[in-house]
Amino acid sequence: MALKITWYSHACFLIDTGDSNLLIDPFLTDNPLAPVQSDSVEADYILVSHGHGDHVGDTVPIAKRTGATVITNFEIQNWFVGQGLENVHPQHIGGGFDYPWGRVKLTIAHHGSALPDGSYGGNPCGFLFYIQGKKIYHACDTGLFGDMKLIGEEGIDLAILPIGDNFTMGPDDALRAVKLIEPARVVPIHYNTFDVIQQDPDAWARRVEKETAARVTVMQPGDSIEI
Ligand code: NI
Ligand code: MN
Repeated sequence: MALKITWYSHACFLIDTGDSNLLIDPFLTDNPLAPVQSDSVEADYILVSHGHGDHVGDTVPIAKRTGATVITNFEIQNWFVGQGLENVHPQHIGGGFDYPWGRVKLTIAHHGSALPDGSYGGNPCGFLFYIQGKKIYHACDTGLFGDMKLIGEEGIDLAILPIGDNFTMGPDDALRAVKLIEPARVVPIHYNTFDVIQQDPDAWARRVEKETAARVTVMQPGDSIEI
């Protein structure tokens, strides 16, 4: 069965596995591009990559409304418990866990992770999903790193990569990331949400498809793809 993957702009995705809705980095309120609102988005699980406000986003109200299980690193888990969430599963970098819908492993990411109130958020992460035989790598916020080659050795069906520059990889390094990961398909993210991360995703797509074997899908906020 196909996985339905919807982009809610920035780093936020909803993966519909058929049985479960997995919501990643739900930055909706205060996000000028968000096509859904915090009070209506569906979630059975919410995954949070790091402590910055454009990734923690609306996690607390969505989790309280839906009862979703939150998956994040150990330090951010502690912070969410302090915010009144009871259903939080801590993992950490290099560690995977089998959930009813499949597995997710936390990968390294080179970035910061302070929480909105200044609390310590541990190290940021990316996510490597193993769902129904498909492998999806969501790099989240990161600079380029050589160990993306190790992630790519697993055989990635879909890589989700930031191209915005300034806070994360820009277009040039994201192209180098595709060459390291060698995914079948790529979706660019984390651009055009703010003035300092304006990019042309179609121009990037043309470069990637000229220089690599990956197929690029430029999504609009609210678009869905199936893999
Ligand atoms: Ni960030
Ligand atoms: Mn960010």
